[in-house]
Amino acid sequence: MTYQGKWALITGASAGIGKTFAEKLAAQGANLVLVARRKERLDALGAALASEHGVSVKSIAADLADPLAPEEIARSLSNDNVNIDILVNNAGFGLPGVFTDNSWRAHRDFIELMVTSYAHLTHLLLPGMVDRQYGRIIQVASVAGLVPGSSGHTLYGASKAFLVSFAQSLAAECSDKGVKVSALCPGFTYSEFHDVNDTRSLVSQLPKYMFMDAAPVVEGALDAVEREHVVYVPGAWNKFTAWLVKALPRPWGAAMVKKQSAKFRKKNG
Ligand SMILES: NC(=O)c1ccc[n+]([C@@H]2O[C@H](COP(=O)([O-])OP(=O)(O)OC[C@H]3O[C@@H](n4cnc5c(N)ncnc54)[C@H](OP(=O)(O)O)[C@@H]3O)[C@@H](O)[C@H]2O)c1
Repeated sequence: MTYQGKWALITGASAGIGKTFAEKLAAQGANLVLVARRKERLDALGAALASEHGVSVKSIAADLADPLAPEEIARSLSNDNVNIDILVNNAGFGLPGVFTDNSWRAHRDFIELMVTSYAHLTHLLLPGMVDRQYGRIIQVASVAGLVPGSSGHTLYGASKAFLVSFAQSLAAECSDKGVKVSALCPGFTYSEFHDVNDTRSLVSQLPKYMFMDAAPVVEGALDAVEREHVVYVPGAWNKFTAWLVKALPRPWGAAMVKKQSAKFRKKNG
C-alpha cells in the first residue's frame, strides 16, 4: 500500500484516465479528492472506492475552464484540513477544427482548462508538498506534445508540449525537495475522449494496436513518477512513434505526423 494515508487530488476523475487514476490510487490506500463537472459521477465513484478500499473521499464539482476554480478548490481543501500529497492534473478534451473554425471564447476556455488550471493547481498545492518534503505530481500530457504540430485541433499539441516542458522544469526544481514530477504522454487510450470530441468514427478505423486501455497507462505512470522518470510514454507503439519522430530529420517527422493525423483530426469544429 504505497500511498496509505496520503491524499491524492485528481482532476477529470469522472471518466477515462482520471477515473482509472482514482481506482488505482485508492487500491494503494490513498484518500481521494475527485474533481470534475459531473458531481453525480464523482459521488458514485467515491462511494464505491470508499466502500471497496476503506479510503476517505471528497468530491468537488468544478469547471476548470473557470479561472476562479483552482482557488475555490484550494479553499475547500483548507476548510476540510486536507493536505494534498499527490496531484494528478488530467482533466481535458479536444477541440476539433482548424484555428479559425472556433471562437476565441472556445480557445480561451481550452487554454484555461488545459494549460492554466494545470499550472494554477500546481502553484497552489506544491508549496505544501515542499513544506512536508513529500509530493507526487503527474501532468497528463500526450504523445501529441512530443511530435510536430499538425492541422486541426490546433492548440491541443501546443497545450501538451507546454505540460511536458513544465514537468521537466518542475522536476528539476523539486528533485531535492521530496517532490517527484512526471509528464504522462499517452497515445490513443480507450476512454470517453473521442466520444466527447466526436471523432470516435474516425479513430475507430485506426488499427487496434495503436490503442491502450487506461489501466496500463495509469499503472505505468504511477511507477514512472516513483522512479523519477520525468517524461513517460506508455506502450510500445507510442514509444516507437515518439522515438521515430525524434530520430527522423525534422521535415520527415512533420510529414509523417501530417499524414497520420489527417486520419483522425476533424478539420471542422
Ligand atoms: N484518450 C486518449 O486517447 C488520450 C490520449 C492522450 C492524452 N489524453 C489526455 O488524457 C486526459 C484525460 O482524458 P480521457 O481520455 O480520460 O478523456 P475523458 O474520458 O473524456 O475524460 C475527461 C475528463 O476531464 C473532465 N473535464 C473535461 N472538461 C472539464 C472541465 N471544463 N472542468 C473540469 N473537468 C473537465 C471530464 O469530466 P466532466 O465532463 O465531468 O467535467 C472527464 O472526467 C486529457 O488531458 C487528455 O488530453 C487522452
